[in-house]
Amino acid sequence: MEDDPRLVAWRAAGRAAAELVEDGMRVGLGTGRAAAAGIAALGERVRAGLRCTGVPTSRASAALARREGIAIGRMRGPLDLAFDGADAVDPSGLVVKGAGGAMVRERIVADAAARFLVLVDGPKVVASLDEWGVLPLAVVPFAADAVAASLADLSPVRRPVRSDDGMALIDLSVPAGADWRRVARRARGTAGVLDHGLFVVPLGNVIVGSPDGTASPAG
Ligand code: A5P
Repeated sequence: MEDDPRLVAWRAAGRAAAELVEDGMRVGLGTGRAAAAGIAALGERVRAGLRCTGVPTSRASAALARREGIAIGRMRGPLDLAFDGADAVDPSGLVVKGAGGAMVRERIVADAAARFLVLVDGPKVVASLDEWGVLPLAVVPFAADAVAASLADLSPVRRPVRSDDGMALIDLSVPAGADWRRVARRARGTAGVLDHGLFVVPLGNVIVGSPDGTASPAG
């Protein structure tokens, strides 16, 4: 897998994010493969002498950060920087996250960060989110059946696993041509829905890694 072009691209994006971390920063650590590449790159810098504190968005990212030697901090107060992966990014900066089920903590960290970076590779930069088509929800388990019934027209599918915070995870199929912001607003307005996976990020904060090992902002 060493030469898997997507892995090379995610590593390039991860390195670019890690290079922006300065001494003493508190850094939100996302979840998933691209975020893991960023955590690994940050670990290299920490082992070379950089001091920083990571605030992980999942147990998996916390475990990786610990293995990399990154000090772990609690989620309290502002963060200087955060980096995370995404499932799809459109040309207007709409970003879908949550395939890994961590979007509740991911939004908390993103909102707290002075700068939130999204790490992707080329195939995730899409002309329209219709190419991805799935909006994940984190739902209070008590309400999962009721939420699925309320949003039945969006073909909800409940995942067999819960999030690290014990939330039920439900994937909605967003019809082609739909207004994703409206779908997300409707979903969040449904009692029991804690959050969804739609984020809005300036394209300049989306770092696109390439299989040639370089990375650059999407806009
Ligand atoms: C986790 O909940 C997600 O938001 C991930 O950040 C997203 O699914 C991207 O993951 P990969 O980098 O593994 O594709």
